[in-house]
Amino acid sequence: MKTLAFYHLKGGVGKTAAAVNIAHAAASDGVPTLFWDLDPQAAGSWYLRAKPRKAMDAKRLVKGKLAVGRLVRETAYDNLAIMPADFSLRSMDILLRKLDDPQQVLKRLIAPFGESFSLVVLDCPPTISELAENIFRAADTVAVPIVPTHLSVRAMSQVRAHYKALDCKPRNLHPFYSMVDRRRTLHRSLLEQPPAVLKNLLPAAVPYAAVVEKMGDHRAPLAAFAPSHPATLAYQQLWAALRSRMGGI
Ligand SMILES: Nc1ncnc2c1ncn2[C@@H]1O[C@H](COP(=O)(O)OP(=O)(O)OP(=O)(O)O)[C@@H](O)[C@H]1O
Ligand SMILES: [Mg+2]
Repeated sequence: MKTLAFYHLKGGVGKTAAAVNIAHAAASDGVPTLFWDLDPQAAGSWYLRAKPRKAMDAKRLVKGKLAVGRLVRETAYDNLAIMPADFSLRSMDILLRKLDDPQQVLKRLIAPFGESFSLVVLDCPPTISELAENIFRAADTVAVPIVPTHLSVRAMSQVRAHYKALDCKPRNLHPFYSMVDRRRTLHRSLLEQPPAVLKNLLPAAVPYAAVVEKMGDHRAPLAAFAPSHPATLAYQQLWAALRSRMGGI
């Protein structure tokens, strides 16, 4: 089993859109996939039409007092299950800080899913505190959506520095361009000459496209309602690139 996190400390950069579409692309490729929504906003759960079971409670979750397998729900798609987000996840950082050994909690919670799934996709909230460290330690691969702007690129250097400071291996960080608008000069120039901090840049860029927002109208992954749109194809290319980077799925 591999764990793939969609993470950035910046908000609104396309983490959830990518996580949902990549999880769906993996499942469509026959990979038994679990989408784990770690964000109390629960946008990914909403797109996939899943609500948490009543038992879901972040306090009991981090203390290892929940049978996590029972919290998993089916989705409308073959091979794709979901751990829906609960609003109590908003306290994750505080809860983690209270534990003696907080860094590996998420990794330990994910481990048993190796029996049923080949891929766990984490949709992460924008954070750089305790939960981020848990995400870094749990994920084999961290995919980071980068809107081609100076601030998003700068935030990537902060992510990279923090990742390294925690002794995680920088080769596991995989940035990709997100919300790309080729009409903009800055977008084009950053695409043509990616800054050094975008080392490992994935060879697939997600375009800025209104159809991605329509995921909210349909409450479905793009491939379910716009199978041949260029944005859908971009997510499929992204999945192919991630699959090859992860190896062995
Ligand atoms: N490629 C895209 N083209 C156009 N709109 C997009 C694209 N990707 C995402 N969006 C829209 O931008 C908004 C933010 O996207 P998304 O929720 O995926 O970002 P996020 O990084 O997960 O945000 P947050 O940090 O709040 O979790 C949403 O309204 C989404 O529909
Ligand atoms: Mg999100």
